[in-house]
Amino acid sequence: MASAALQRLDALHLHVVPGGNASRRDGGRPIVSGDGVWIRDAEGRALLDALSGLWCVNVGYGRDELVDAAVRQMRALPCCEGALEMTTPTAERLAAHLLGLAPPGFAEVSFAASSSEANDAAIGIIRRYWALRGQPQKQIVIARRGAYHGSTIAGASMGGIAAMHDQLPTPLHGFHHVMPPYTFAFAEPGEDAAAFGLRAAREIEAAILEIGPERVAAVVGEPVMGAGGVCVPPATYWPEVERICRHFDVLLHADEAITAFGRLGHWFGCDAFGFVPDVITVGKALTSGYQPMAAILLNQRIAETLQDGAAFFDGYADAAHPVACAVARANLDILEREGLVERVRDDIGPYFASALAGLADHPLVGEVRCLGLMGALELVADQIDGGRLEDAGALGARCRELGLAEQIVLRADGDTMVVAPPLVIGRAEVDELVVRCRRVLDEALGELQARPASLPFGGDSAR
Ligand SMILES: Cc1ncc(COP(=O)(O)O)c(C=O)c1O
Repeated sequence: MASAALQRLDALHLHVVPGGNASRRDGGRPIVSGDGVWIRDAEGRALLDALSGLWCVNVGYGRDELVDAAVRQMRALPCCEGALEMTTPTAERLAAHLLGLAPPGFAEVSFAASSSEANDAAIGIIRRYWALRGQPQKQIVIARRGAYHGSTIAGASMGGIAAMHDQLPTPLHGFHHVMPPYTFAFAEPGEDAAAFGLRAAREIEAAILEIGPERVAAVVGEPVMGAGGVCVPPATYWPEVERICRHFDVLLHADEAITAFGRLGHWFGCDAFGFVPDVITVGKALTSGYQPMAAILLNQRIAETLQDGAAFFDGYADAAHPVACAVARANLDILEREGLVERVRDDIGPYFASALAGLADHPLVGEVRCLGLMGALELVADQIDGGRLEDAGALGARCRELGLAEQIVLRADGDTMVVAPPLVIGRAEVDELVVRCRRVLDEALGELQARPASLPFGGDSAR
């Protein structure tokens, strides 16, 4: 079917995002194949996927091994219900494999079909844990403003995105939001990053004291906030958050939907910052996006408490799906065999960081942030408008659109461009990525300079 016809159908059927954005109006861009770090649209144009799907495709597109693993499992056994007290060898091996990679002290794994569901499950487990420990009043979860933890009602309530709260029928109770460790946005003039990291962590302490430690169940955070604009926290932040959680006997939940499996040069993002959470949720790159799958990892203390308690009604029909488990195992094998995690830490990650840093001289770039293969360009218009643009997010949205014209898939988080390519990206591809980003920035700068002062920049592009 022709590309335009597919787009018209998508606009009618709203396959992707049921929101009032450009996708709703025009339909999404039809994509038909992928290979390595490249995807191809229905018109045959190759686009550099600088987002890895959406933080998913760590081992790159076109991996026959993952396809073969899925087909073998589908032939042998395509479905098996954990709810009926059955399991599969592939699920058990995957759980053991994940526990072998996890930080010390982790003892139990359960599965879900998306990270939103995994986070929902984690909220339920955490509250259940405290009830079983005789402290049912410990219910409140502290999260960060701007964080994204999923689109289910609980995930959106736990997340700190005000626009998502506004669209919920009623945001769920029991969540409290504090300042994220976003140095560029929130550090005081002259405050160094280390001091800011401690101040951001101590906002959590202040919140615990204000709410009362006897009512706080957990603190949740992504090791590096992705949707909030790739906020790489100062090194002081997580150790202090961990100390505060231990001091007040509050659980620490790391939402590693996007940071696990090598993105930051470690198997888990918490390893990159030297802290050990009590609960970890993962998804996306668990299967490199080849199958929908997520997991909830629990430490010994929580696992034992749950096992001792009465039945806990939880679980999804598609959790521990055998085909997804088989693909996840094959994916972990590839990551291990090809040393992709270490490659990000020691080789391509540092190369990417220094290549991306080369864009810091551009007039539209206020800051370049990077850790592993998670990078961001913070856009500013200081030199054009004497400050940020009046319409926050317009510059980011326009750069994302210009990226598609330059055949590179970027994400705009407000006015932050997010860059997170598959872990298999080569050095020449990193160079190409940076060249395309610079072209995007130059074009946006040209448009900004050319626009009549009375007109807002951007238009009604998707956010
Ligand atoms: C940190 C974080 N948590 C949860 C999710 C939700 O993942 P999913 O879309 O698989 O439900 C995302 C999605 O990007 C995410 O970035």
